[in-house]
Amino acid sequence: MEAARARRRRTRTASAIVAVILIGLGLTACDSALGTPGSGTPAPSATPGGSAPPEPTTSSPPAAEAGPRVVPGPVALGGDRVAALVPRLAAMRTDDFVASARWAIPPGSTAFGDVLTARVAEALRGFAEERGSAWAPGLDLVAGGASAPCAGGSAFAAIPTRLAADCSIVVASGGVIGERLVIARSEAGGPTEVAREVWYADGAGGAPYDGAALYAAGSETRVLALVAEALRAGGRIAPGEDPFSRLAPETARALLVDSSAAGVGVVATLSVPGSDRSRPESVLVPWRLLDPFLSESGSLVRSAAVSGDPYEPPTSPAGDDPVDCTLLTCVSLTFDDGPSSLTPALLDVLDRERVGATFFVQGSSVARNPGMAARTVAAGHEIANHTWAHPDLTKLTDPQVRDEVRRAQAAIADATGVRATSLRPPYGASTPHVRELVPMPFVVWDVDTRDWQDPGVDVVVERAVGEAGPGSIVLMHDTHEDTIEAVPRIIDGLRARGVALTSVEDQFAGSLPGAGALVSHGPR
Ligand code: NI
Repeated sequence: MEAARARRRRTRTASAIVAVILIGLGLTACDSALGTPGSGTPAPSATPGGSAPPEPTTSSPPAAEAGPRVVPGPVALGGDRVAALVPRLAAMRTDDFVASARWAIPPGSTAFGDVLTARVAEALRGFAEERGSAWAPGLDLVAGGASAPCAGGSAFAAIPTRLAADCSIVVASGGVIGERLVIARSEAGGPTEVAREVWYADGAGGAPYDGAALYAAGSETRVLALVAEALRAGGRIAPGEDPFSRLAPETARALLVDSSAAGVGVVATLSVPGSDRSRPESVLVPWRLLDPFLSESGSLVRSAAVSGDPYEPPTSPAGDDPVDCTLLTCVSLTFDDGPSSLTPALLDVLDRERVGATFFVQGSSVARNPGMAARTVAAGHEIANHTWAHPDLTKLTDPQVRDEVRRAQAAIADATGVRATSLRPPYGASTPHVRELVPMPFVVWDVDTRDWQDPGVDVVVERAVGEAGPGSIVLMHDTHEDTIEAVPRIIDGLRARGVALTSVEDQFAGSLPGAGALVSHGPR
């Protein structure tokens, strides 16, 4: 009964998605009215005055029956498909350039996410190095920040020299994901594309592949013949012309890396050889015509794109998404004095948002609530030492200092099996002498929300979001209700500024400064 209902629901969703795609592609005709070369007649929907005519697209023949044809570009997915992904943003600004990239990765550590991140990182770092700068991630550089995966748009119109990479999700269905990356640079001479490619993966463990891998090896020129047919029909090239007929196999393959799977077929976007137009052409080839040329991967992608099934991201430990803080702007949320009765609600929020944080726990609280400490670690968070009973260490004897740290260390290890690798001194109070007594670095903060004074949720949010800079360590306490309530807004606010949130340990890629160090922010 349930299964039947779910199936019906899925079928309805699938039809809705196909309809959206058809409408999206239907806009092709409207687009030709914008003055694209070769459009002989104005589109029927282009009525004077701009008022929308009644549904011109629904009376068209089903798109799957049509031949290959020129379209404005691939159709990007949004909504739930994108929400299942983890947004990533990297941006840097100097006096003479801006570089930014926005992309999205599946949750957890996957080869697909690694490939996309590496592609973007290579372009960004290379661009900065060309201009004599080492990559240094910044804040507040892209509208919408890191909270809008694959949302498009750019805030750099005033900057003459820039590199911008943006993403769109072309397919996200079942275990299949397809993401399109366009990397373009803009300089005095005008914009140039650096790369335009679609990457696919069809499972958590499988190796990612590019759009050209949708086609069986050796069939690329056959696919390009279909593209040429569409270009001729659309008036983009002369009748009888085939710009792809004499290409070497590897050149033909390279032309097809920007192949976006959709419900009705593949949109191949490419620069036509011999064409002096800088704008690439997009051609939709229906699946029906591509069937003989699909590789095994291509068939898998086709099934997923046609099914419209919901996306099933690979399972991964919550709060533990890989974050490279040498590439992204990182900030760490830290929570002191727990575990408390409020910690479970906080862990739920962090799980849902896939945010990793650092918990500086009191040994005595851990001993009272070992299960909560264990859950914190199991959720992928960093757990660290905040002494046994929360004294001001500068007022204790040397043996008392050592005892406070040792007892807390033992309670954490007993509850979680983890050896804490840093200590936060209560009240942030320490001296060089106290630090010499403890065999690990002291981690304090550079943003103090003063949430323990109960200033209200709004103030806690404002301080955490407004005062954070690259590498910040934000002090909060999971012993105050307002803090728990503020955290979702803090996460949203920091992401909107372009921030990736991660534990202190991860800001240092696991290599915290040694014993005796006093750390108040990440490396920057
Ligand atoms: Ni404290």
